[in-house]
Amino acid sequence: MSSADIYRELILDYYRNPRNFGKLEKFDIDAHDTNPLCGDEIEMQIMVGGDKIQEIKFTGKGCAISQASASMLTELAKGKPLEWVKQASKEDVFKMLGNPDLGPSRVKCALLGFKVLKTGVYGYMGAHYDEADGSDRTG
Ligand code: FES
Repeated sequence: MSSADIYRELILDYYRNPRNFGKLEKFDIDAHDTNPLCGDEIEMQIMVGGDKIQEIKFTGKGCAISQASASMLTELAKGKPLEWVKQASKEDVFKMLGNPDLGPSRVKCALLGFKVLKTGVYGYMGAHYDEADGSDRTG
């Protein structure tokens, strides 16, 4: 099995058995977005403790890569400082997914959860996330 196969299996597994799927009873951050190309969506809820992501869950509907990527991201982000989310880049997401060969429309799928996570955390921190270049506009 090549590493591409392993990651493909992993993505399917997260799609079929999404980790951290559901809603939180109490949360500090609630962010939602859709992929304009297909209408698929992701919602994330986060409970913040100190400056860390204490709890995080997501719900959504969409293709395997969008849902698996969001689920993997929740696992990666849990317990991390909010600052980590600000520092995280699109490349980190692609790496998490095993650097798959994605066309432009699939890139949107893979980054949907990431956009929701960034938007939510940036909103909470009072900053503005610029999706176009993944940068922090307000420092
Ligand atoms: Fe809709 Fe992938 S096809 S997010």
